[in-house]
Amino acid sequence: MITKLTIDRIMEATDIVEVIGEFVQLKKRGANYVGLSPFANERTPSFTVSPAKGIFKDFSSGKGGSAVTFLMELEKFSYPEALKWLAKKYGIEVEETVESTENKEEENHRESLMIVSGYAAKFFHESLLETDEGQAIGLSYFKERGFSNETIKKFELGYSPDQWEAFTSKALKEGYQQQFLEETGLSVKRDNGTLYDRYRGRVMFPIHSFTGRVIAFGGRTLKNDKNVPKYVNSPESEIYHKSNILYGLFFAKKAIRDEDNCYLVEGYADVLSVHQAGIENVVASSGTSLTVEQIRLIGRFTKNVTILYDGDAAGIKASLRGLDMILEEGLNVKVVLFPDGHDPDSYVRLVGTQAFKTHIDQNRKDFILYKTDILLKEAGNDPIRRAEVIREIVESIAKIPDSIKASVFIRECSHQLEIDERALLSELNKMRLAKARKEAQQNTRIIEPSDYLTPEELPQELPVKKEDSSQEREIVRLLLLYGNKMIDWDGIANTYIGPFMIAELADVEFEHEASKKFVAHYAKEVEDGNLPDEQFFIHFPDKEIVDLAVTLLATKYTLSDNWYEMHKILVPDEQVNMKATILGAIFHLKKQKVGKILDGLRVELQKVEGEAATEVLLTQYMHMKKVEKSISDYLGSVILK
Ligand code: CTP
Ligand code: MN
Repeated sequence: MITKLTIDRIMEATDIVEVIGEFVQLKKRGANYVGLSPFANERTPSFTVSPAKGIFKDFSSGKGGSAVTFLMELEKFSYPEALKWLAKKYGIEVEETVESTENKEEENHRESLMIVSGYAAKFFHESLLETDEGQAIGLSYFKERGFSNETIKKFELGYSPDQWEAFTSKALKEGYQQQFLEETGLSVKRDNGTLYDRYRGRVMFPIHSFTGRVIAFGGRTLKNDKNVPKYVNSPESEIYHKSNILYGLFFAKKAIRDEDNCYLVEGYADVLSVHQAGIENVVASSGTSLTVEQIRLIGRFTKNVTILYDGDAAGIKASLRGLDMILEEGLNVKVVLFPDGHDPDSYVRLVGTQAFKTHIDQNRKDFILYKTDILLKEAGNDPIRRAEVIREIVESIAKIPDSIKASVFIRECSHQLEIDERALLSELNKMRLAKARKEAQQNTRIIEPSDYLTPEELPQELPVKKEDSSQEREIVRLLLLYGNKMIDWDGIANTYIGPFMIAELADVEFEHEASKKFVAHYAKEVEDGNLPDEQFFIHFPDKEIVDLAVTLLATKYTLSDNWYEMHKILVPDEQVNMKATILGAIFHLKKQKVGKILDGLRVELQKVEGEAATEVLLTQYMHMKKVEKSISDYLGSVILK
């Protein structure tokens, strides 16, 4: 863990305008800075940075937080990664506590594996560029394939000498441990316990994590021997989980964000050639079928995926069903085909960047329409098979979470399939409904009714989400703003507002997830004798809390059913009558909770049988009624004072 002292130093040194200014063009406006949101497509700037508070708020996407949060959102860093990035920028030495816990050991273990992998990448890279064998065999191969020196350097391409122990013996000599050489798969153990190189006489493609560290390799043979596997890849290890890695993502992520689109190709060579042609938003699934994790990874950077296929029809058909998964994750999928026999790599080299781009623009097809096309051609005039096609297409469309988008596809496909739009729609609704029912059974998640069902069609048993969290958020806002201020009301003195509120609210259970967490953390701090201020929560490691804090600090917050108005009282500034503000919020929340309890009791009273049980409920009801009345009286008296 990074020490508290280091975190404090980083926070102190960090100038949020400077940090965000590296990614967003900011203009000064009053006390704040504004710019175009890096998270949304917008023409008028709604992205605001407040240097005084050290926060940003993006009114387009709703995101907000500290400089750390910003880096986590934009660069997809983890919390420690963001801190380390800032530390590096401001030249602060990072102290980490050495923990003897398993966690730390695991961390060390992973670190060791990455260090060995980084060393190996350097070894292969140097042997490509600086040894006779590497130059004669590896480098000349890459050159022949058209890769520039710049590409070779950027992607750290390499060559593994055609010997049994060239790498392993050098690594051991330099002190790298046998255990880590084995676990990364760089070396393989013989029966007699000695190690030999996994990669021999192959050109090497290092695979980078999305923060840019080498975590695995693909090694391509240069022989044309059918008995030799074309690629040898790293085995799964603690640092390499094939299913959630995309080749090239580290080098592509900035362009993916800028272009708001990600090209997906199949192989290493495709990534390199397309990237080299200046189209940098390209990644590869490395020959395996796409996984949900990989799709989610892309989804963190853009919602638009364009798949670049080679023209081989069998391969395309096999992957059609897999692509539904991308729809399910809410991404927009387009497909581009290349002329027979060409893959993106060979095609871009054949026609050049400009013609390649033109080809993409002219042949980009929406995945669903494309799938419809292929399946229809295949079905021919066979009515049964055509019915199957319709079903399959509607199934795909049903996976799209955005119902408006789905409706558009229904319309377009109805033309293509030559079938009435309403028939498709009713098929779609059936599938949706079945899915909603299934989900409702599986978990208690609240399901929002889908947009294209009429009220009569809506299943009655589905609960509709309605949760008023404004009262709870008002408490959080007051804690944030005034919690560490001293109370100076008559009757109460020598107390801070935060601890006072926490004590007063001890009997209230918060329901809104973020507020609940916030208040719990606040109470814990108070218990430990601390008075957390807004900065404490702005820099909190939990994103949900940061979000809540920043939203409340950045937006001028008013209660939806403002109780000032309800009581026909005008309070120009809540700070003028702090007592009314604080007590009003506390008791208003309590009144809301009591109201809920009363509602529950009313329902029970309708169902209850037997005199004794009714008596008990009635007593409870009367009691709560009294509580409600006294709260109301109190609210009135506080406000009218
Ligand atoms: N692949 C693999 N093992 C194989 C074949 C392929 O891991 N035996 C993976 C590699 O990640 C490869 C991708 O599948 O990049 C695509 O395969 P292919 O098109 O055969 O390879 P290319 O990288 O395009 O190689 P080349 O153009 O040099 O033939
Ligand atoms: Mn290829």
